Amino acid sequence: MPESEIALFSEQYWDRATEVAARLREQGPVHRAVMPNGLPVWVVTRYQDARAALTDPRLCKDADRLNEIMRGKLAAAGASTELLSIFSKHMLMADPPDHTRLRRLLAREFTARRVELLRPRVAEITAELLDALPAGEPVDLVERFAFPLPVTVISELLGIPLPDRAQFRHWTADFVQERSELSLPASRAIVEYLTGLIAAKRAEPGEDLLSALTIASEDGDKLAERELLATAILLLIAGHETTANLIANGALYLVQRPELWRELAQRPESVPPVVEELLRVDGPVRMSTSRFTSEPVDIGGTTVPEGEVVLVAITSANHDSDRFDRAAELDPGRGSGHLSFGHGIHYCLGAPLARLEGEIALGQLVRRFSPAELLVPAEQVRRRHSAIMNGIEALPLRLQ
Ligand code: HEM
Repeated sequence: MPESEIALFSEQYWDRATEVAARLREQGPVHRAVMPNGLPVWVVTRYQDARAALTDPRLCKDADRLNEIMRGKLAAAGASTELLSIFSKHMLMADPPDHTRLRRLLAREFTARRVELLRPRVAEITAELLDALPAGEPVDLVERFAFPLPVTVISELLGIPLPDRAQFRHWTADFVQERSELSLPASRAIVEYLTGLIAAKRAEPGEDLLSALTIASEDGDKLAERELLATAILLLIAGHETTANLIANGALYLVQRPELWRELAQRPESVPPVVEELLRVDGPVRMSTSRFTSEPVDIGGTTVPEGEVVLVAITSANHDSDRFDRAAELDPGRGSGHLSFGHGIHYCLGAPLARLEGEIALGQLVRRFSPAELLVPAEQVRRRHSAIMNGIEALPLRLQ
C-alpha cells in the first residue's frame, strides 16, 4: 500500500510510522484518527504545535471528565468501555490543583540528587543481568535485559517483594496492549495485588517508597486511598515499559553501528549525550497520554472543538525538520529539546531515573561486549503494535 494511504494505527502503520508521520506533518497540523481500542482522537504532529499543546491549560486531563468523554465516544463507536476509570486518580490524569498536590508528594523522591543515590544499585543490577547473558549464543536482549532492569529498579524502589516481580512484566505488558481482552484482566490483577501490598505496608512499613506514600496518605488525608493505589500503579507502569523501550531501541540502534558501539565503550563520557539523542531519534513513547479540549482550541490554524480527545505525537514532533536539522540523524552535539519526556506540568517525573538507567544499561552493554551481531535483518525486528509506546518485541543478538 502506498505510504500516502496508510492510516495512523492501521495494520500497515506500525512498521512505517516514521514515514507516515512525515507525511502527516506535511499535510496539516492535526489529524483525526481512531485508536486501536476504537476511540476517535485528534493527533498533533508538528513540533511547535506539540510543545504548545503540552502546556495549553485548555487541554485538560481531569480523570472524571476525560473518562466521561471517552465513554461517550467509545459507546458511540460500539467499542468496549470496560477499561475506563479502573485506576485514574493519579497525577497524569489530573489538572491543577489536584495535579499539584499529587505531584508534590512524590517530587522530592525523584529529584536528580535523590536519584543519583541509586546509581550504585542500578549499576549492580545491570551487571548481574549482563553476567547472566550467555556469550556466543542467541539471546533476546528485550526479554533478558531491557525489561528486567527497569522492573527490578522500580520494584525495589516501591518495595515489591522479590518473588512477585516476574509477574509484573506480564501484567504490565498485557496492560499496555490497549485491547480490553488482555488489558482488563491484567489491570484487575495489578489492582488486586497492590491493594494487598499497600495493606501489608500499612501494617508493617519498610524503607521503601510505597511505605512512605502509605504514611503520607495517613498524614492529614493528603493522599486518599484510591489516589495511593493509582499512584503506585502509575509509577509501576510509567517507569517500566518506557525505560525498557529506551534500552531496547537504543541497543537496536547501536548494534547496527559497530563504530559507535566501540566509541561509546572507549569514551564513557559520550554515553549521556548519545542516550539523549536516542531518546529523540527512536524515543520510547509514540504518543502522549490523552487530553481533552475544555473549549474549542486552535492548533496550528485548525480548530479542535470542545470535548474532543487530543494526543500529541511525540515521536513525530521529535523528527520535525522545522525544529531539528537532519532530524533522522543522531547528533549528540545538538543538545536536548526533544519532547520524549513531555513538556510542561506533566513533564516526566521519572526522567532523571530513566536517564540514569538508560546510560548505565547501554554504557555497561558496550563496555562489556564487542559490537553485537544482530541475528535477523534490522527491518525484520518487529515493532510493538502499541498506539502509545514505541518499542520492539524482541532483539535477537549474539554477544561476545
Ligand atoms: C509522565 C515519558 C520513565 C514516571 C511522562 C510523560 C512522558 C513520559 C512523555 C508525559 C505524558 C503526557 O504529558 O501525556 C517517559 C519516558 C521514560 C519514562 C520516555 C523512559 C525513558 C519514567 C520513570 C518513571 C516515570 C522511570 C517513574 C519511576 C512518570 C510520571 C509521570 C510521567 C509519574 C506523570 C507526571 C505528571 O503527570 O505530572 N513520562 N517516562 N516515567 N512519567 Fe515518565
